[in-house]
Amino acid sequence: MQEYKPVKEGKVREVYDNGDSLIIVATDRISAFDHILKNKITKKGAILTQMSKFWFDFTKDIVPNHMISVDVHDMPEFFRNENFDGNSMMCKKLEMLPIECIVRGYITGSGWASYKENGTVCGIKLPEGLVESDKLPEPIYTPSTKAEIGLHDENISFEESVKVLEKIYPGKGEDYAAQIRDNTIALYKKCAEYALGKGIIIADTKFEFGLDENGDVVLGDEMLTPDSSRFWPLEGYEAGKSQPSFDKQFVRDWLKANPDNELLLPDEVVEKTVDKYKEAFELLTGKAFEA
Ligand SMILES: Nc1ncnc2c1ncn2[C@@H]1O[C@H](COP(=O)(O)OP(=O)(O)O)[C@@H](O)[C@H]1O
Ligand SMILES: [Mg+2]
Repeated sequence: MQEYKPVKEGKVREVYDNGDSLIIVATDRISAFDHILKNKITKKGAILTQMSKFWFDFTKDIVPNHMISVDVHDMPEFFRNENFDGNSMMCKKLEMLPIECIVRGYITGSGWASYKENGTVCGIKLPEGLVESDKLPEPIYTPSTKAEIGLHDENISFEESVKVLEKIYPGKGEDYAAQIRDNTIALYKKCAEYALGKGIIIADTKFEFGLDENGDVVLGDEMLTPDSSRFWPLEGYEAGKSQPSFDKQFVRDWLKANPDNELLLPDEVVEKTVDKYKEAFELLTGKAFEA
């Protein structure tokens, strides 16, 4: 049997190279306040992989995506076991575009900080009088460039995203930049509206796109998981203050209340958090999560 080693180990995900495809594995690791915690959140990886699968299916009419299969039987033998079953996605290998496609439907986080300072977010002027966590009149596209490890991603304007892409793909920068922006907004609108009907606000999210062998733009990475997005419970939503995170609320609250935590959560907090991930999955897909 051929052995595989991850070509990339992120904080939470691992990527395996399989020739024309990649196998992207979501682990049960959880991060909070930029740290990896010592606990594993049982089945978090599988829940997030199945959630991405749901959204890829749900939006394939808007833009093609990289998903090939989440069935380990379609993958090399090495992956056909419980370590990979459910939490792995075989994906078409793409040439990734070096832009993080961020879309915000609500004003929060760094966007709120910037708006308070000068009324803009990433160079986009917003109406006066917005309060924290307000819904924006229209979702806004606020791209960023992937920073080297250890640095924060840098927010850029749409025009700068054109320049970044033009440098790599002469004559194509404008076209690619416009395509990924328009796809980002269209994907967000369809999915945020759907999620709202299920009781979840998707405040903002990030997509990544790449090019396939024909030079066509394809949606890659993970899609609309709580790790790539801010999910808020609709119940209790109230603009004018910060909102609790749908999935990490218990984790963050407990870490804040227990500064000497050494990044280790009590079982009870882990169990409640597992349940939040399951709840998000069930609300969004209408199906019980089967472990
Ligand atoms: N279809 C794909 N083809 C090639 N690379 C991809 C594809 N989908 C996602 N990626 C890349 O795989 C990597 C996943 O790593 P991740 O764990 O998110 O860490 P990070 O975002 O810090 O690089 C990212 O660099 C992402 O751009
Ligand atoms: Mg990433």
